[in-house]
Amino acid sequence: MSAVNDPHGDWFTPGQVAGFVGLLVLGTALGVGSYGVGHRLAGTGSGAVVAAASAATPDGRVLYAGNCAGCHGTKAEGAVGPALKVVGAWNAADFRHAVLDGKTPEGRTLGVVMPRFATTGLDGAPPTDAQLAAIQAYVRTLQ
Ligand code: HEC
Repeated sequence: MSAVNDPHGDWFTPGQVAGFVGLLVLGTALGVGSYGVGHRLAGTGSGAVVAAASAATPDGRVLYAGNCAGCHGTKAEGAVGPALKVVGAWNAADFRHAVLDGKTPEGRTLGVVMPRFATTGLDGAPPTDAQLAAIQAYVRTLQ
């Protein structure tokens, strides 16, 4: 077919678009497949299971780096915000309450510089308990 006779003018024809999408899907499938093979070869068990688990489990390190490190320091050593050593000892509910609503276990209201993540969201989405647990677990590894 030539572009001159093409009723769609300069646009891609549905056939071309379908071919395009097909290639994308194929490429993605191949990429995921080889990721799995790599893991199997590396002896880490089923690649498919590893890939599925990492997609479902929030990464505390990434969440902390993207939402907290700018103020609390990459090692939670403190910067604009305080060091987060004390929160390693807090239970999960206390940690959630502080991060979501700005309240410490002693009932102190945190200054307004500390975001209320229940309102602002984590990475733009409402924070889940699993994400907050992952962040707290990561902060504990920094102490
Ligand atoms: C814009 C800067 C900023 C960001 C971003 C920020 N914080 Fe804070 N944070 C603060 C400040 C400032 C304080 C101290 C407020 C006060 O004591 O009144 C604080 C206090 C805290 C406290 C209480 C610490 C204590 O000793 O009582 C916790 C827990 C905390 N932040 C966790 C987090 C976590 C987890 C994130 C990321 C999800 C985060 N913060 C992101 C600025 C920030």
